[in-house]
Amino acid sequence: MISDSFGRPLTSMRISITQRCNLNCIYCHREGVFGESSREMTPQEISRIVRIASGLGVKKVKITGGEPLIRGDVCDIVEGIAGVEGISDVSMTTNGVFLQEYAERLKEAGLNRVNISLDTLRPDVFSMITRGGKLEKVIAGIDEAVRVGLDPIKLNMVVMKGINDDEIQEMIKTYSRNGVVLQLIELVDSDKEFFHKYYFDLDRIEEEIADKARNVRVRKHMQGRKKYTLNGAQVEVIKPMHNTEFCAHCTRLRVTADGKFKPCLMRQDNLVDFLKEMRAGADDNRIRELFMKAVMRREPYFTR
Ligand code: 5AD
Repeated sequence: MISDSFGRPLTSMRISITQRCNLNCIYCHREGVFGESSREMTPQEISRIVRIASGLGVKKVKITGGEPLIRGDVCDIVEGIAGVEGISDVSMTTNGVFLQEYAERLKEAGLNRVNISLDTLRPDVFSMITRGGKLEKVIAGIDEAVRVGLDPIKLNMVVMKGINDDEIQEMIKTYSRNGVVLQLIELVDSDKEFFHKYYFDLDRIEEEIADKARNVRVRKHMQGRKKYTLNGAQVEVIKPMHNTEFCAHCTRLRVTADGKFKPCLMRQDNLVDFLKEMRAGADDNRIRELFMKAVMRREPYFTR
């Protein structure tokens, strides 16, 4: 296993497989990637980068987008990653719109679990947030994911002031079922004006939940996040902004859809392009060097 210069082990990768998305959420940080690129990695290129990363100690891979299910070859990608020796956890973050058609095949391809964006249970609010998305498709996708045994299913709820902050109790009630975890996520700064208008502090909510919760588990390796069990629902609160603990426990390296290592969600100035060299015929040793270069560029973003 390798660690960065701050002693943080590197054990997980978050790979964006496309910048394209069928929705256009008002808050989306686009995985911290600005500017359009139409370059996308092939399933073989993705497997190769995962194999190299696995050899250096990466055990977990999360597939993201854009929207990963927009790629027709997404099952090949999952199968390729899941087949790499040493990878013990393959997950995906999706908006869930196409999940009903894909869940079973994804499970067969080796996907272990899935995170689904679900910010609201009101169809009109959903349509507003996603700029035209259909809530019922996502609900059907969640049900299908449960049915085929993707486990756990985590629901990502980005809490925004005046938009959905009054729906937390309803979400907890609706998704208090086995194998579903509700993640209450603090808004991350993408657009200053938007952030100031809609940022909702989750501290008070977390206190309330902690008071009522029957069971609290501290997740040491997950930025010290706590998981609460409340009326049969499992709830996590995720607060990345200005959170030194969050950064101190970060174990992750990102890969952009166009084949660059990205050491931090919040920064655009320290990316390392590997796909260019891979396509020019670089051998594994050279790609390993580029990987290490990116790991050595990892530094906590919020330090105080
Ligand atoms: N703040 C917090 N989370 C965000 N996501 C995207 N943009 C933001 C943001 N500005 C997360 C959501 C979504 C996932 C794809 O990315 O959790 O479910």
